[in-house]
Amino acid sequence: GGVITLDPGFKNTGSCESAITFLDGEKGILRYRGYSIEELAEKADFLEVAYLLIFGELPTKEQNDKFHDDIKAESIVDEDVKKILDAFPKSAHPMGVISSLTSALTAFNPSSVNVESEEDMYKSVVRLLGKFPVLVAWTFRKKEGLPLDYGDNSLGYVENILKMMFRKPNGDYNQNKILVDALDKLLILHADHEQNCSTSTVRIVGSSHAGLFASISAGISALWGPLHGGANQAVLEMLEAIKVDGGDTKKYMAKAKDKQDPFRLMGFGHRVYKNFDPRAKIIKVAADEVLGDLGIKDPILDIAKGLEKEALEDQYFVDRKLYPNVDFYSGIIYRGMGIPTDMFTVMFALGRLPGWIAQWREMRLRKEPIGRPRQLYIGATERSFVPIEKR
Ligand code: CMC
Repeated sequence: GGVITLDPGFKNTGSCESAITFLDGEKGILRYRGYSIEELAEKADFLEVAYLLIFGELPTKEQNDKFHDDIKAESIVDEDVKKILDAFPKSAHPMGVISSLTSALTAFNPSSVNVESEEDMYKSVVRLLGKFPVLVAWTFRKKEGLPLDYGDNSLGYVENILKMMFRKPNGDYNQNKILVDALDKLLILHADHEQNCSTSTVRIVGSSHAGLFASISAGISALWGPLHGGANQAVLEMLEAIKVDGGDTKKYMAKAKDKQDPFRLMGFGHRVYKNFDPRAKIIKVAADEVLGDLGIKDPILDIAKGLEKEALEDQYFVDRKLYPNVDFYSGIIYRGMGIPTDMFTVMFALGRLPGWIAQWREMRLRKEPIGRPRQLYIGATERSFVPIEKR
């Protein structure tokens, strides 16, 4: 072996070559397969973006229809999965539940582990895209005390997700185009972000040739943490706390800057974006539009805007190039949609699913070697064993 370079957190280490997502943190550029995130968020729908990420090209009408049909054909989840769901306490965090249920998909679909050909991969991919929204809806409904049922396959992919989540047992459900469009946009903005913590996890687990569902389940666990996807929940909890505290944003700014205090301003800062997060710009505008269209006046939005303004003018944040990230405003939109706070990160996972899948598929198609970082050993040198009575 050669010289081992130490790079904690892999701040400067490329783990792979990838043709999926381009990111320039200095310029605030994000592109999926060469298409700018701004253009995709405005013009594409989530399923098209999923196809683009996974297969490399925007689908034709026929390809898109077939993709959607194949996904719909896989939108049934084994009834026994409900028993697993039943065993969780109602207080269980939905991220833990959804990660377990995703892992359990392997048990119910064991053939999905073998992906010898592209055809095998395709089957696993549409299976997961079909079943995951059902698992998300069931996780949510279980918490809400609603019966577990299915959506309506005549609807679009995202429309159906909302219906699966919110339809009342008596059939009451108001399809709201504003909500569908807003969710579509949020999912697109979260769909991929190159080699972040959860995606690297998916690739590294998959590199041992564990199946797709096991790899994605691991990615969901990685996403859960508050420094990663869990930030969207943490942001809203922080904004709520500020509201309860009488809207004293200055106090929280001081806490965030205090090096003795572990508190960080949630939704601020990014490992790669050091100028602005292009997703945050789009989401900020969307938050205003959606709440406006829905006629919601949320004081939390005003607190968020105030906090953003203060931080952008504060030397501590300016010096460290800390800007609002994608999660700073996403939770406000989810809240406006009636999605509870502890489901926010699950919605992120729903959006990130195509990205994880695309990255896993690329890793397998490129026949990448097993992921196996090295270390610099700093422990004891060789020692002789001392029997327990002599220690
Ligand atoms: N509030 C206060 N100080 C911060 C923050 C923050 N949100 N983020 C970074 N800093 C400070 C940090 O204390 C350090 O200061 P110093 O140089 O004085 O020690 C400096 O800025 C650099 O921070 P770092 O931790 O070395 O940067 P990183 O690249 O390792 O971490 C991060 C990036 C996103 C984990 C971090 O900015 C953070 O914890 N942000 C809050 C959590 C959050 O919003 N995460 C969502 C990320 S975007 C969605 C996603 O991809 O999951």
